[in-house]
Amino acid sequence: MPRTTPFLAAAVLTAIAAATGLPAFSADPGWNHLRSRAYLPPDFDQEVFDALPTVWEEPAASQAATATPEARRRMAMDRYGLTPDPADPSKPLQYVVAADGSWTMSCLACHQGQLGGRAIPGLPNSNYALETLTEDVRLVKVKQRKPFGHMDMGSLLLPLGTTNGTTNAVMFGVALMRHRNADLEIVHRPPKFDMVHHDMDAPPWWHYAKKKRLYADGFAAKGHRMLMQFLLVKENGPEKFRQWEDEFREIEAWLLSLRPPRWPGRVDAALAERGRAVFGRHCADCHGTYSDAGDTYPGRIVAIDEIGTDRVRFDSLTRENRRDLNDSWFGRGIAGEPGVDDPGWFGRGIAGEPGVDAPAGYVAPPLDGIWATAPYFHNGSVPTLWHLLRPGSRPAVWKRSGDGYDERRVGLEVEERAAMPAGKLPPVERRRHFDTTKPGKSAAGHDYPDLLSEEEKTEVLEYLKTL
Ligand code: HEC
Ligand code: HEC
Repeated sequence: MPRTTPFLAAAVLTAIAAATGLPAFSADPGWNHLRSRAYLPPDFDQEVFDALPTVWEEPAASQAATATPEARRRMAMDRYGLTPDPADPSKPLQYVVAADGSWTMSCLACHQGQLGGRAIPGLPNSNYALETLTEDVRLVKVKQRKPFGHMDMGSLLLPLGTTNGTTNAVMFGVALMRHRNADLEIVHRPPKFDMVHHDMDAPPWWHYAKKKRLYADGFAAKGHRMLMQFLLVKENGPEKFRQWEDEFREIEAWLLSLRPPRWPGRVDAALAERGRAVFGRHCADCHGTYSDAGDTYPGRIVAIDEIGTDRVRFDSLTRENRRDLNDSWFGRGIAGEPGVDDPGWFGRGIAGEPGVDAPAGYVAPPLDGIWATAPYFHNGSVPTLWHLLRPGSRPAVWKRSGDGYDERRVGLEVEERAAMPAGKLPPVERRRHFDTTKPGKSAAGHDYPDLLSEEEKTEVLEYLKTL
């Protein structure tokens, strides 16, 4: 049942926004690029965005038709998981809206979310409804006789995301890299139809500083060039990447400057202290230690059979996919990484693990700010930390209650179900449900908390709030 959490909501609204809010526009060069630079071709124009409610299903369409323009815009932002820019609420943080009215998706589409209506820098967007937005845009473009853009076309070839808040981003990357050589020159290859589509929950950017390598399986070299991977649309030739490199150095500097948000609620200090000890015994080997005197982070990769979480992401990338990326311009010339010019690089691997082109499993991520980054696991399958600590009680199907935050269980406020509702749901409603029975969406695994008593779980939950 939905629970109201007034003290946390109020604290989020005031404390977070004030203390760790986004910088003023153009105060930080990296942030400024993310907000103002259209690195991709535009997705649609203002006229298309304003007409989106005309293609909605009922009762949403009628509600929008009689609403004020502001209320209608707010409804549209909510439906697609967009957050109004505090500096100009008519524009979302996730798209670059140019003076000519064009809207262009940016990195922030997936990587800038909100809690309690306020954007927290580097928080992933757990509301983004890319597939729904793209479907609605296409319908409006047909009505307005406008040409389809790259996203409209792309979504006819591959799914964009079957659950709100998660996207098929890893397979976008594979599809894009397929048409490039190591120097990022465009090469023509037939499209591939054997890709393993699956949805991922983007990780928070404030972990970037601690991460040794990137992505769920840690296969990619860390560096400003790797951050540009998502820009490989055919309109961007190799020269664009060289031209934009300095801007991505500044974007990387912004990522490195981010800090996790502090839990805005109360903490039972004695309980949390006992939780620290439990964490030290059962969790720290993989997730590191946290203290004012300095953190440790081992960056361990846990073998896929041992971790037991959904393995579709692990299996979806071939050895060649991983090698093509690391072997390309993106993986070269990165400080601290020898790159492909060093013949020993692929064979070297990580701390006794096989080479990075064939990782062993998933990286145990840092847990800083973990209270804010629900849902959990790489596929976003577990709605709260309470559920994460109780593998046997994780819901088979869950649906968010609007933007509610579950302060007791620490995470998303959800409605739990044993199965999807009977009958055929409209796609927009189906994507509001997380169905763990679908491929790539399992919430199983990571059974380590089973070793803890109920009391220890309560203690660890309290401790996790403090990270
Ligand atoms: C369509 C959604 C989407 C967009 C747009 C997007 N990303 Fe991501 N990003 C993801 C997902 C999902 C992952 C996790 C992939 C994985 O672990 O395999 C990710 C991972 C990352 C990571 C690795 C973090 C880590 O801790 O390992 C970084 C850094 C990153 N993205 C930066 C960017 C930048 C910079 C851009 C813009 C150029 C961008 N992303 C655009 C979805 C997106
Ligand atoms: C053997 C190593 C290992 C141990 C021990 C371990 N974890 Fe994990 N943990 C992982 C890995 C690997 C993942 C990533 C799994 C995935 O995303 O599929 C993970 C994921 C998590 C996540 C979700 C992170 C996110 O951003 O979604 C949390 C929270 C977590 N662990 C907490 C704990 C706690 C609390 C303990 C101790 C009771 C613990 N872990 C013990 C390896 C471990």
